[in-house]
Amino acid sequence: MTMFIEKEQERRSQTNYLPEHLRLVQEGGYVSPIPYLWEDVLIAVTLKKPVLLKGPSGSGKTKLAQSVSQYFHQPMQSVNCSVDLDAESLLGFKTIVTKEGQTHIEFVEGPVVQAMKKGHLLYIDEINMAKPETLPILHSVLDHRRMLTNPLTGEVIHAHENFSAIAAINEGYVGTSPMNEALKNRFVSFSIPYLSDDQLKSLLVSSFPEVEERKLHTFLSIHGDLKKQVMNGLLSDEAASVRSLMDAVNLAIHMPEKRAIQYAIAEKLDDPMEQKLVLELVDTWIPPTFEEGLRSW
Ligand SMILES: Nc1ncnc2c1ncn2[C@@H]1O[C@H](COP(=O)(O)OP(=O)(O)OP(=O)(O)O)[C@@H](O)[C@H]1O
Ligand SMILES: [Mg+2]
Repeated sequence: MTMFIEKEQERRSQTNYLPEHLRLVQEGGYVSPIPYLWEDVLIAVTLKKPVLLKGPSGSGKTKLAQSVSQYFHQPMQSVNCSVDLDAESLLGFKTIVTKEGQTHIEFVEGPVVQAMKKGHLLYIDEINMAKPETLPILHSVLDHRRMLTNPLTGEVIHAHENFSAIAAINEGYVGTSPMNEALKNRFVSFSIPYLSDDQLKSLLVSSFPEVEERKLHTFLSIHGDLKKQVMNGLLSDEAASVRSLMDAVNLAIHMPEKRAIQYAIAEKLDDPMEQKLVLELVDTWIPPTFEEGLRSW
């Protein structure tokens, strides 16, 4: 790790965050699929550049953002975008409170305002799911101005020096709109690929040390076949997601492998033909038991 990043890590982790905010420091564990990717993301964060992570579902975008939070020992505020996302979900809302018989209006700060004022990380997930008209509020937050005039209160907020934003997108998925150029332009962008087979194996070994080598080998072989069928266009991307694979391995600690794959991978697919294909592939690695063979007759 370069001195440049290490100095920033030392500086950020010495910040006095409130104990209740320290609970927002995330758990790390991101494995970098390309050796330099992790360090390059940390350089961008150190330079206070807003970071955009682009990659398919389950490629580790959220895990990467969480690992940045852990690395800098910095609380992370999260926003999940949807078409319903509005200014209030980003900035906060006004509410009436009664104290000692007096009523006043108080502003409950949302994730963007909190992250800016307190120097937290701001993770904006699925930023391309938001309606394009909602996000321009963030333009001045994400460029060199690092400030916001809160339209709901009139308050002018200058970001704390630790404030950094990380956003994630699944490009080209249903329900997403192309990101507005002015917004995209404010980010430095990183493509996040899936892990290679060897990296995935080490991740599974370290995440589930109790699972025998033989079982892991079977799961990785099935995952490899599923990836091939995704590339052939016969299965949707979710079939080869690392998340689904990890869920399957986790379930298989407590139940037969085949049922684990059915629940964690096959049943997530909408198309019954795809579900059938997954289970047929599984049969080539885990032969049906005598009873299962009889049932399929
Ligand atoms: N490179 C990686 N290093 C460590 N864990 C990973 C990696 N890639 C995927 N995973 C694991 O796979 C699962 C899914 O990862 P994550 O939720 O970060 O994906 P994502 O890209 O955010 O997906 P989505 O777009 O669906 O939100 C997590 O359990 C995560 O730990
Ligand atoms: Mg995610």
